[in-house]
Amino acid sequence: MINFSNPLSEYLYLKKNIDSKIKEVLKSNNYILGPQVEKFENNFAKINNSKYCVGVSSGTDALIIALQSLNIGMGDYVLVPSHTAMATVSAIVEVGAKPVFIDINDEFNLDENRIPKKLNKKVKAIITVHLYGNPCNMDSILKLCKKNKLKIIEDCSQAHLAEFNMKKVGNFGDIACFSFYPTKNLSAIGDAGAIITNSAKYYKNCKLIREYGWKRKNYSIRDGSNKRLDEMQAAILNIKIKKLNLFTNKRIKIARFYSKQIKNDNIILPKLNSKKKHVFHLFVIKIKNNLRNKFIEKLKKNNINPGIHYLLPNHKQIPYKKYENASLNVTNMISPQILSIPIYPLLKKNVQKKIVNILNSIK
Ligand SMILES: Cc1ncc(COP(=O)(O)O)c(C=O)c1O
Repeated sequence: MINFSNPLSEYLYLKKNIDSKIKEVLKSNNYILGPQVEKFENNFAKINNSKYCVGVSSGTDALIIALQSLNIGMGDYVLVPSHTAMATVSAIVEVGAKPVFIDINDEFNLDENRIPKKLNKKVKAIITVHLYGNPCNMDSILKLCKKNKLKIIEDCSQAHLAEFNMKKVGNFGDIACFSFYPTKNLSAIGDAGAIITNSAKYYKNCKLIREYGWKRKNYSIRDGSNKRLDEMQAAILNIKIKKLNLFTNKRIKIARFYSKQIKNDNIILPKLNSKKKHVFHLFVIKIKNNLRNKFIEKLKKNNINPGIHYLLPNHKQIPYKKYENASLNVTNMISPQILSIPIYPLLKKNVQKKIVNILNSIK
């Protein structure tokens, strides 16, 4: 079965390097926050043109730490698209703040034109999610946030190396969060994440919060927790980061092929924008006329397993129904239409062609 992502293919491609690195870490007697983490933080800050990086235990924890480092908590409201991974919303709730759901545009990203209507004194921040690898409209978002004194957290979990106006995502807001979940464009073999920032103050806060507020071992100067990155994951990330450019280009090439070759009146292709470098974590099409199930059935019959990101938007999830969720028309409209077709760097050309042929054949 060909799934929409394939982490195993990357391991097999890099097996020799990864296996020997794992042995090296096992023998090092240094398993948490050691030289591999430090090396990765330097590498990751560098490829993002960012001053600071803090390696953490997951993308969700990165978001929690980012919110806490900006002092966002009880009584604060945070703008967030409902159409995102549950993690983005759960982090807001975890720190005691309240999500204010905002609708999306035809690129699946939060619609900045809807920000002004959602503002009040309690709204302190916005989380801009560069969904599927496609950057948000950061120029207009920055202007609006500056005017209204909103902090910006960029959720770059799906957007490693994506760019808006030739500038890497993660450098527009106050702080940015990445996930290295095994299916992500840069992935660990387990849970891992990172925060980048250009602010010395937020960097310091994040490092403290990551480990019990410790200034030095067992001496705490603020509240914090255990959200550390381990040496094994960092070592694997140090190997994979060398392939990130190559793998990103492969994703973009597959997306170009799909965009050119998929021709079916019932399919709406992802919108491209010349200001943006979309890194295609996912290739998400919209299926018109209530035909999604028919497409899924046909693909599955041919051993292709598509995904749906996301089946149920966050404002319809049981724990989040109670939060502000007016005017989410586009989110509600697209959620029964979207379908993620397989895209990953090592997806073979003959399989890409097969997927196109199946999609084009469905009436
Ligand atoms: C947009 C987005 N934000 C946050 C996360 C959370 O990352 P993690 O699974 O590493 O906690 C994910 C990954 O699932 C994601 O896709």
